[in-house]
Amino acid sequence: MTGADERWGFETRQIHAGEIIDAEAFARITPVYQTAGYLFEDFDDGVERFAGRSARRAYSRNDNPTNLVAAWRLADLEGGVDGILVASGQAAIAAALFAVASAGDHILTTRSLYEGTREMFRGALRRQGLEFEAVDALAPTSEWLERIRPNTKAIYTESIPNPLGDVVDLEKLADVSARAGVPLVVDNTVATPYLCRPLEWGADVVVHSTSKWLAGHGAVIGGAIIDGGRFDWEAHADRFPQLARSGPYGPDPFTQRFGAAALGAYLRSVIVLEYGPTVPPSSTFLLLHGIETLSLRMQRHVANAERIAAELVGHPALAAVHYPGLAGSPHRPTAKKYLPDGAGSIIAIDLAAGRAAARTFLDELRLVSQMTHIGDVRSLAIHTGSTIHAKLEEHERLSLGITPGLVRLSIGLERVDDILRDLVRALDLVIAARPRTSAGDEG
Ligand SMILES: Cc1ncc(COP(=O)(O)O)c(C=O)c1O
Repeated sequence: MTGADERWGFETRQIHAGEIIDAEAFARITPVYQTAGYLFEDFDDGVERFAGRSARRAYSRNDNPTNLVAAWRLADLEGGVDGILVASGQAAIAAALFAVASAGDHILTTRSLYEGTREMFRGALRRQGLEFEAVDALAPTSEWLERIRPNTKAIYTESIPNPLGDVVDLEKLADVSARAGVPLVVDNTVATPYLCRPLEWGADVVVHSTSKWLAGHGAVIGGAIIDGGRFDWEAHADRFPQLARSGPYGPDPFTQRFGAAALGAYLRSVIVLEYGPTVPPSSTFLLLHGIETLSLRMQRHVANAERIAAELVGHPALAAVHYPGLAGSPHRPTAKKYLPDGAGSIIAIDLAAGRAAARTFLDELRLVSQMTHIGDVRSLAIHTGSTIHAKLEEHERLSLGITPGLVRLSIGLERVDDILRDLVRALDLVIAARPRTSAGDEG
């Protein structure tokens, strides 16, 4: 990786880390290298590029300068040794797990996860032969260790689980994974590296949907995988022969050729090259412009969410407000430890009168957009039970904490008073629309 001065603060690195100044035009902004491939100077040049013996590029599927700048910038912000950009958050999760696990392997996860991820684990990845086992994040270390099997290849979690914000104890899971000899993979989408850097708490790999707060504008879909560079693949060579033993990619194992960045190299030169989940550099151009202002946006996202969560508590239309930054939240202690600068900007509210009340609330919103997405400059809302969690049976939704009246809010960057007025107005209309049952109500 190139570019960052170790003394630079986060705000400087989000603008400058990883930058490449092109030798021709000296463009100050990273250009969109919108090209499928790169001209070979001659026959031998092509041979050298394909053999990986030349610093020059061979093909954009896994090697594009625009994408590389963003990947290195994110790796720098997370404190990793390498970054790889892919086409979506889902692709990042799949690629990270394909790099460490194969058919017949087992992966432990926390129970509370973004439903798209859970669906991929129970659906497409299970069909590829991977077995996923969910454990309660609050279970003691001993219980986690009991679930480790010889074929366990990773522990997977989210730093701020979407949508309930039940912040996990990252240090505990890092301890479990270190004792078990498997990497801890953390989806850090909702926190972003501005609020939490899982590698500093012992995680080994970080994945992101860059579609969310990192881009921030809601204009692109993308994903990233960050290699923390600390997992000792050689000490666990039997578990991870693809990284620590010779194989079809050459007599020298990845660990010998790439040292601490073996996983990143394997992801780039095998997983991304072979599966091909390439993100267009035009999308990455927009992502880079988002990352430049990440710190400022996250401060405002958090300030808006804190104010809104606090003001919504106690509204008569609501049975609960789930936000880990709230004083009364059971997740406040973990939030304070792992998210000292704020607990993000997802708030889940539970309409006391269930699905019908959620429908009234959502249909009455005027400013807040009813749609699926999070981490946008715009405030967004969705009834997850009838959309993201719709394929589940009611008892499954309830076991995950997805109650009939649950609405996920992603608090944006509009003026907080305007967001609040819109939410409270819609909640007040839920109360006004409530059927009157008691004699007192009739009066
Ligand atoms: C926590 C989390 N991880 C991953 C994803 C998947 O990201 P993408 O939509 O970019 O595939 C999402 C999408 O909402 C998410 O919320």
